[in-house]
Amino acid sequence: MKMKRLGRDGPLVSDLGLGCNGMSLQKPRADDESVATLQAALDNGISFLDTADFYGMGHNESLIARAIKGRRDQAFLSVKFGALISHSGAFLGLEGRPSSVKAFAAYSLQRLGVDVIDLYQPGRPDPAVPFEDTIGAVADLIKEGKVRYLGVSEVGAENLRRAHAVHPVTALEIEYSLACRFIEPEILPAARELGIGIVAYRVLADGLLSGLLTGEPTGGNAHLRPPRMQGENIEHNIETVEFLKQMAAAKGHTAAQLAVAWLLSRGEDIVPLIGMSRRARLAENLAIPDIRFTAEELAALERAFGPGGIIGDRYPGFVMKFAAR
Ligand SMILES: NC(=O)c1ccc[n+]([C@@H]2O[C@H](COP(=O)([O-])OP(=O)(O)OC[C@H]3O[C@@H](n4cnc5c(N)ncnc54)[C@H](OP(=O)(O)O)[C@@H]3O)[C@@H](O)[C@H]2O)c1
Repeated sequence: MKMKRLGRDGPLVSDLGLGCNGMSLQKPRADDESVATLQAALDNGISFLDTADFYGMGHNESLIARAIKGRRDQAFLSVKFGALISHSGAFLGLEGRPSSVKAFAAYSLQRLGVDVIDLYQPGRPDPAVPFEDTIGAVADLIKEGKVRYLGVSEVGAENLRRAHAVHPVTALEIEYSLACRFIEPEILPAARELGIGIVAYRVLADGLLSGLLTGEPTGGNAHLRPPRMQGENIEHNIETVEFLKQMAAAKGHTAAQLAVAWLLSRGEDIVPLIGMSRRARLAENLAIPDIRFTAEELAALERAFGPGGIIGDRYPGFVMKFAAR
């Protein structure tokens, strides 16, 4: 796996990252397979592991601790904090006060079984706390040697600049895919101006870009389903993805592979996170960095996924109010 620099002056990380949240959402959980997936990813050079202390209320970090035992130096640990989740999984709010940030970090270090977290970021800004204060707490942790680099997640250009003014931001974790382009007009140019890398999540847009969906998903929590995955929106969106499927078939790849390869084609400063909880996905995803597009193919994707290609918000309204725009 190729390595790339995260941000202008940041560390070298793998071309693709592994998103670990799904490993803690499974019902029932399959921890041994999750750990085996993490280890197989590391074996194949995927160093960037993305987690949060609130993924499975610490469960996700415990899985990572098992997987990196004896091989800490092969992993780049990106950890989010600040979402408060109850034992039943209910969202209780955001917490960004400096004292809490320092306590969150202490618990994460303990659960992960490491001396330092490589990249540390608030999952969302806490609207009740000046963003500078939350970021300042991470800057203190960097001075103390408990964290190596500062990240932010789901912030717009203004908060990106506010954070960067307190301490250099290495990476912005944010939703970005063929199906979700809102960062392109303002946020992405601001990140590039400041030398901040992009860690792209939801690269398959809730599975839409896998090309495997035939209609509105039926399982899961319906009130969490984003508008782009509902009713007439999803019918329209599946129709748009048909074009990606056809291009993928013609190139001898899957739609999912093409969707992630498209992100890599957008710039050396983008690290796509692929959510995987099974080793069965690994071979297909490891082949992605070798995929190339012609200028005509990129233009055709631009036409298909331009304005109106994918319709409907990426989060339900009550979640959207905390998201970047
Ligand atoms: N900062 C934020 O606000 C934020 C928000 C959401 C997510 N994230 C991060 O982003 C990561 C990824 O989240 P996500 O929402 O994109 O994904 P996800 O919820 O983890 O789900 C990805 C899905 O895609 C499947 N998949 C993987 N490779 C595939 C392929 N080649 N073809 C078809 N399906 C494939 C996975 O299957 P299997 O599970 O069966 O392998 C999984 O069901 C998370 O784990 C988290 O680290 C961050």
